[in-house]
Amino acid sequence: MMNMANFVGLKRLPVLGGICPSPTRTRTLTHVGSSVNKCFKWRIKVPRRMLFGLGVSYFSMSSFTPSASARITAGPSVDQILKNVEWPEQFPFKDQDFQRFDESSDSLFYEAPRFVTHIDDLAIAALTNYYSKVFPPSNTPGVAILDMCSSWVSHFPSGYKQERVVGLGMNEDELKRNPVLTEYVVQDLNVNPKLQFEDNSFDIITNVVSVDYLTKPLDVFKEMSRILKPGGLAIMSFSNRCFWTKAISIWTSTGDVDHVMIVGSYFHYAGGFEPPQAVDISPNPGRSDPMYIVYSRKLSTA
Ligand SMILES: C[S@@+](CC[C@H](N)C(=O)[O-])C[C@H]1O[C@@H](n2cnc3c(N)ncnc32)[C@H](O)[C@@H]1O
Repeated sequence: MMNMANFVGLKRLPVLGGICPSPTRTRTLTHVGSSVNKCFKWRIKVPRRMLFGLGVSYFSMSSFTPSASARITAGPSVDQILKNVEWPEQFPFKDQDFQRFDESSDSLFYEAPRFVTHIDDLAIAALTNYYSKVFPPSNTPGVAILDMCSSWVSHFPSGYKQERVVGLGMNEDELKRNPVLTEYVVQDLNVNPKLQFEDNSFDIITNVVSVDYLTKPLDVFKEMSRILKPGGLAIMSFSNRCFWTKAISIWTSTGDVDHVMIVGSYFHYAGGFEPPQAVDISPNPGRSDPMYIVYSRKLSTA
């Protein structure tokens, strides 16, 4: 039985030697007590308030930088991490874990379109290849897909089409230009996590390198469960990069292994999903961007 505390309460420090000039380098993470039902406690050498007081200009507001990255070199592989987890009874995170360095409105941050890609070509190719294996065949009648936190690209297989492909994101210009979408919604999920879709209406939900920006993840994941058809698949993918100032504190303070556990916990505590699974699809470990998937299906009885 895997104990969540072993992961989120890392026994070792997150590897914080990346490029990002993150003050989280000075943080260590510890958990209190050995019971899985106990919460985790941050031991922060630099008080958070002081970090916030450093001033946003010290950090790049727009660069997509590697976050605290702890590529697994020992211990269980990503594919094993979510197998047989002994989850605490209660969601172990606190409100402060979902705070961000930049708490200004997300609409400001995403006001200007960014026609860029956020991970390297090999990582994108690995994701596209993964999609090609798990997506229903192109043009399957009745299939609907939601790409959450979408932009001008969804990384779907070339020429992939379905009757309904909805993009939900923050920037209309980006969404308008996304060729795979049949419709789009501009919505700030951190202001309004309620999804404007019918129950049981989507076969697939994707979210690429963006789950770390959700400040109300359980609300969003509950909504995902509501709108997925029974047996529908939710695929959360991420690398080790992020808009550091906009990612939640629990993400920027931890490494890749923890991120898998964090996203797994969203599925678990939202309810209505099968036990989440993880897969490492990193195309060229150590040389190109890593790429991890945490996925789950809506329970067929939910
Ligand atoms: C790093 S980009 C990734 C875009 C795209 N998924 C990709 O793979 O290139 C982050 C995306 O998350 C979306 N996003 C960030 N905060 C959001 C929020 N509060 N509500 C909805 N979408 C959000 C933005 O619109 C943006 O497109």
